[in-house]
Amino acid sequence: MNHDNDITNQSGNRPFESILKTRMSRRHTLTRGAALSATGFLAALAGNKALMRGAVAAATAPASGAAASGGGTAIAQARRSSLFNFPAVPAAVSGGPEPAISSTYQYDVLIPWGTPIQPGGPEYTGDPNSRPTAAQQAEQVGLGHDGMWFFPIGRGNDHGMLAVNLEFGTNSHLLGKEAPTSPEDVLLSQHAHGVAVVEIKQINRKWQVVRSDKARRIHVNTPVTFSGPVANSPLLQTPFGNAPLGTVNNCANGYTPWGTYLTCEENFNGYFGASGSWTPTEAQARYGLSESGFGYGWHLFDPRFDLANSSYRNEENRFGWVVEIDPMNASQTPVKRTALGRVKHENAQLVVGSGGRAVVYMGDDERFDYCYKFVSRANWRSMIARGISPLDEGDLYVAKFNDDGTGEWILLDYDANPALQNSSELSSQEEVLTFTRVAGDAVGATPMDRPEWTTVAPDGSVYWALTNNSRREEPNAPNPLAPNPFGHILVTKDSNNQVGTTFTWDIFVLAKDTHSIEQSAFGSPDGLWADADGRLFIQTDGDQPIVNGVKLNDQMLVADPGSGEIRRIFAGVAGCEVTGVAVTPDRRTMFINLQHPGEGDPALTNFPAPTGSGLIPRDATVVITKKDGGIIGS
Ligand code: FEO
Ligand code: CA
Ligand code: CA
Ligand code: CA
Repeated sequence: MNHDNDITNQSGNRPFESILKTRMSRRHTLTRGAALSATGFLAALAGNKALMRGAVAAATAPASGAAASGGGTAIAQARRSSLFNFPAVPAAVSGGPEPAISSTYQYDVLIPWGTPIQPGGPEYTGDPNSRPTAAQQAEQVGLGHDGMWFFPIGRGNDHGMLAVNLEFGTNSHLLGKEAPTSPEDVLLSQHAHGVAVVEIKQINRKWQVVRSDKARRIHVNTPVTFSGPVANSPLLQTPFGNAPLGTVNNCANGYTPWGTYLTCEENFNGYFGASGSWTPTEAQARYGLSESGFGYGWHLFDPRFDLANSSYRNEENRFGWVVEIDPMNASQTPVKRTALGRVKHENAQLVVGSGGRAVVYMGDDERFDYCYKFVSRANWRSMIARGISPLDEGDLYVAKFNDDGTGEWILLDYDANPALQNSSELSSQEEVLTFTRVAGDAVGATPMDRPEWTTVAPDGSVYWALTNNSRREEPNAPNPLAPNPFGHILVTKDSNNQVGTTFTWDIFVLAKDTHSIEQSAFGSPDGLWADADGRLFIQTDGDQPIVNGVKLNDQMLVADPGSGEIRRIFAGVAGCEVTGVAVTPDRRTMFINLQHPGEGDPALTNFPAPTGSGLIPRDATVVITKKDGGIIGS
């Protein structure tokens, strides 16, 4: 979701832009003639435009081509063999009503909105004159395909469970009207949100949904439970005593080495509204809760989402968490893991760090919000053997970036940190974890340009997509954009194999600096995924550049961090965002999602139906394979 909320961070913490200015000035000096380390190389690109043009031109020459000449020579000599050799998708075909893919690849469509999760169930195919009923929607894939992961069955290269987040659907797309006019409308909307878990199999070279005892729909009214430090807190209890229900605005995701799926709740605030007199607390305001919400109107027909209904006080505290789902057990109750904090979660990238500890990197997607890390108390295997979830006991940190390319992970522990104790809005660790943004404000975390996905490369580098910041006011030296409409990607490296409390950081790429190169041009990075070979997949959501007269659609590109080359592998349809990435174990099938194609408007695209069919465009998963059966991204 590319939602421009009002700025809620009034903490006065030093904006990242001023640090970036200092930092990049330093890089500009240091990188001239310096050794071209993987990240130093890209910092050099950002710090010196003349060098950058030559360098990127060299790096983006065809993989089979000879070294570039002129300004790119030094870079070309520093190159190793490229991680990819697919032809880039040209700009000319990257702005239309249908997807475009590299000529050595092919795609198919899977589980569009309205697909029954069991074959033979009720189906909705995009008829503009009808909509599914709420009951039907609860048995179908909903709307807003976003983060997802594939869980193999057997060897798993042609069979497994696909868990897919259903982030949101606007009223106009989902209901065909601007606001709900009945409880049934709200129920339909609630059933379209959540997560779909479907069993899929490749039969006759085509992936399809098969009958399953593991498939299920989790939506806004599905029973859930809480675990971890806040689980039994009054902060999560309502005066009315209703049981916790549902998950909403499931944005991006994570997956664990113990086989579970993590779904992350992002803009939960938008579903709440107030039907009567209501004044937000400071914490409620910090999370963007407001009388009107985003216009979903759920509070008009469901008192659970009415902030003015005192019987449901604290209901909003039940959202904004990372939720764990067992994709192999349809009767498991989804668990909200409170140790990971409550923010507008984007994804939750879990890696195993020093000592076998589970480390989870997480962004909070709002202008001027923060980057987080969770580290489990002990080795994840030993914790599970003792019956303890590695996501229930551990330390939560927030990132502070220093000017000199270093940074600190600040521990958010109420008992250990006087800055938290001194906050007038916090009085316990339960409050630190429930009002995590307030805790970040209190300890001086660094406000960022909308942290979206994060991913960890095989060498331990952590990449962070900072999608854009329309409210940035202060320009910075290497890319004097104020505001910053196209965003950038940052790379950090933690001490002590992911579990340390210090890190170094660098700029990986400023999206604006790609705009003069046809095959690399992108803006608003959002989805990120690093594969086992070190390729970095970059997905976009938001404003894209105009290239050769074509306003690009949102897209997916592949970066080779070693060479600095970035190359477009896929372009979405008009009005959509490209998000979510999952692969089979052999990485010869990749699943990605097209969210809100045409913004729901059949005049822009009818995807996945043929152009001109008049059908309402539907969010869907796209299955990518290479024509020669090779690894995706190669
Ligand atoms: Fe749901 Fe920040 O994207
Ligand atoms: Ca989205
Ligand atoms: Ca986004
Ligand atoms: Ca996103």
